[in-house]
Amino acid sequence: MSKTITISAEEISRQREYGEKAATLLYNKFSRKPRAFVHTYGCQQNVSDSERMKGMLMEMGFDFTEETEEADLILFNTCAVREHAENRVFGNVGALKKHKYKHGCIIILCGCMTQQQSVAEKIKESYPFVDILFGTRVIYRLPEFIYRHLSTEKRVFELGGEDSIAEGLPVRRDGEFKGWLPIMYGCNNFCTYCIVPHVRGRERSRSPEDIIAEAKDMIAAGIKDITLLGQNVNSYGKGEDHGVNFAKLLRMINDLDGDFQIRFMTSHPRDCTLELLDAMRDCKKVCRHLHLPFQSGNNRVLAAMNRHYDREKYLSLIKAARERIPDISLTSDIIVGFPGETYEEFCDTLSLVKEVRFTSLFTFIYSARKGTPAAEMPDPYTHEEKAKWMGELLKVQEDIAAERNAALVGKHLRVLCEEYHGDGKIFGRTSGNVGISFDGAPEMLGRFATVEVTKALNWILEGKIITLEE
Ligand code: SAH
Ligand code: SF4
Ligand code: F3S
Repeated sequence: MSKTITISAEEISRQREYGEKAATLLYNKFSRKPRAFVHTYGCQQNVSDSERMKGMLMEMGFDFTEETEEADLILFNTCAVREHAENRVFGNVGALKKHKYKHGCIIILCGCMTQQQSVAEKIKESYPFVDILFGTRVIYRLPEFIYRHLSTEKRVFELGGEDSIAEGLPVRRDGEFKGWLPIMYGCNNFCTYCIVPHVRGRERSRSPEDIIAEAKDMIAAGIKDITLLGQNVNSYGKGEDHGVNFAKLLRMINDLDGDFQIRFMTSHPRDCTLELLDAMRDCKKVCRHLHLPFQSGNNRVLAAMNRHYDREKYLSLIKAARERIPDISLTSDIIVGFPGETYEEFCDTLSLVKEVRFTSLFTFIYSARKGTPAAEMPDPYTHEEKAKWMGELLKVQEDIAAERNAALVGKHLRVLCEEYHGDGKIFGRTSGNVGISFDGAPEMLGRFATVEVTKALNWILEGKIITLEE
């Protein structure tokens, strides 16, 4: 039997009732259709959560605005992954104070940062203009919190709740052609530097039926690029009795009717299987891109990070991926300056980067997170030293990316026309997730085009359109 707790349909409809009652109070308070400003920090998981919260706000009668000055409700969905992310939130929340007292809007904080007790306490004491604060486990109760605040005029703080899955929530998607599809929540890996398992709770997977139903809705709504989301998608389905693992799920979504493409993130090398790589090879709708974070190229550091693989296993996965999909585009995350990492150990990361030749990298200087084991480890190197190493890494990668992009010149690639910036240029991404821009018009949006790469700049390609599909 599955241990996953699913929020009952009764509870979801109870929330809808709160929403209806809140809508009346909101109209009375603001004397117009209320407007919400929602800002999301952090990863796509948060973006996806915000799309569901916007769905709930929409059902409560909200319109949306990009201007805080116009907003009757301001919601920040926060991230805790690095200190810098948290400091930005504190700064931006502080700046809302005058706005609050001038306009009397409702201010809401939620997400990974507020799930931490110490942050919630700091907000409670030092930011009295924050009206509602809640954690990652009770997002589906947003209508209830707004109703409670409006009807009692008291502040609402709620960090409790169980690790659960809430189905049947409305979604207001940010993109017309590109969409996020969460397949699982939480993380069980406890990498020693990482706050995510502490703020997002234990791993739990949505049922294949719920995922397929949402994918079908997205395809019917005209979405052409679906990104499956989870902190570790490769452990999809673990602990469930339906027997569908991530490789099987990919095949099921690939088999759905319609002209769309599939991306996914993030894959953890520990659970990346040959079965998954086989599925990627076989599934024509799955993009030729694998984001496989390795964090460090040194085995001592990897063990201290609790990553459960070593350099050799990582390289063997890369080899297996390239054997199956020769033109696969590989990207990764790297942490520079994990506590105690020496320059020699960092050089193993550099050599791995040179050996694999990634398309692009997300690189981070280690940031201590309170409550994680790494925060207790001796960390003798200064930020300046680590920043210098980072500079070296970026230089190496810049040259590799430039060479890889230059090798694409002259190739014909299939690209989804994603954005039009009003300057006669369309922006899209290759199957390998490299940005490309080419001449075009707004009516091309949402269609696939074959584009010839004409020029390689540092981070983006330029191209010219060869054919446009219907
Ligand atoms: N679940 C994903 C990563 C989620 S966090 C995975 O395991 O691959 C995204 C990235 O942030 C991580 O891959 C890591 O490189 C970085 N990161 C996480 N915690 C960090 C910390 N304390 N300091 C610096 N970077 C960190
Ligand atoms: Fe963090 Fe590791 Fe989980 Fe990724 S796998 S979210 S890095 S604990
Ligand atoms: Fe940040 Fe939470 Fe994502 S900590 S990176 S928003 S899971």
